[in-house]
Amino acid sequence: MNKTATVLASKPHAETPKSGLETSTRKEISDALGDILSAAYSLLLKTHVHHWNVVGPLFHPLHIMLEDQYKALFEAVDVYAERIRALGFLTPIPKVAIKPDAQAMSGEAIVFDLIADHEACVRDMREIAIKAEDKKDIVTHDMLVARMDWHEKTIWMLRAIVTKA
Ligand SMILES: [Fe+2]
Repeated sequence: MNKTATVLASKPHAETPKSGLETSTRKEISDALGDILSAAYSLLLKTHVHHWNVVGPLFHPLHIMLEDQYKALFEAVDVYAERIRALGFLTPIPKVAIKPDAQAMSGEAIVFDLIADHEACVRDMREIAIKAEDKKDIVTHDMLVARMDWHEKTIWMLRAIVTKA
């Protein structure tokens, strides 16, 4: 093997950081973060699709708002993936899934659709954040709390759009 090939021969593998966490905890939290990664990637894709297809008098503000949201979600998936790496495991390939009916929704249906997904994300993240703190993984706990703050503010802003007079 020549020198160039040698330096490029490394493959990623699981590590065992001695950071004060049980291996079983690192594995359990990493698996849970993998699920959050998939949910966030799915919501990112759905938000992007809604950004493209939204129509109606509120096209411009919704189009811009959804752009802000998919950009924030894109940053978030990187945070989850790199936390899994820091816990010693390989980042899984996200399982991305959105229903085909997301392609042709009214503006109101889009907002309710996104509210439901953000709320589902926050519910799952809350459970994992509590579990992470219980098992001394306060870094994951704090990371999730920061992300939940963003989701909850996003839910507020989406709900404000569809609040009836
Ligand atoms: Fe765009």
